[in-house]
Amino acid sequence: MKFNIIHGPNLNFLGIREPEIYGHQTLDDINQEIMAYAMENGHEVSFFQSNYEGAIIDHIQAAHFEKMDGIVINPGAFTHYSYAIHDALKSVSVPAVEVHLSAVHQREEFRKISVTAPACIGQISGFGADSYILGILAVIRHK
Ligand code: DQA
Repeated sequence: MKFNIIHGPNLNFLGIREPEIYGHQTLDDINQEIMAYAMENGHEVSFFQSNYEGAIIDHIQAAHFEKMDGIVINPGAFTHYSYAIHDALKSVSVPAVEVHLSAVHQREEFRKISVTAPACIGQISGFGADSYILGILAVIRHK
């Protein structure tokens, strides 16, 4: 199966950014873990990161034309207010899982609200890099 892994704003700063919350792994380290899991299981994955809402929307729409089997998306802070990303996820026929490195429901009140998760088949949070791997598994089991 073919998966698009989408990382939202500030995730390019992993390793530098609030290590007590997000750990010491860089985005490259996380992508390598995801890639290793995908290859072991015979899947294809492509990676995308942007700090820009519109670029993320373009990438979600591209997943439709590329006939991806699933999107695993960490929308970062866009999670909490981007109705445009919600609409993009709703627009495509590709099932998406929302993932978060940190346990968003155990943090500040504003992080407990996701406007993007209702456009996904589900949300996984709190498992670090494994959240993405669990997201891939969730798409596979959903089909
Ligand atoms: C995050 C959680 C969000 O609240 C935050 O804005 C992020 C990262 C996570 O992966 O835990 O940028 O999506």
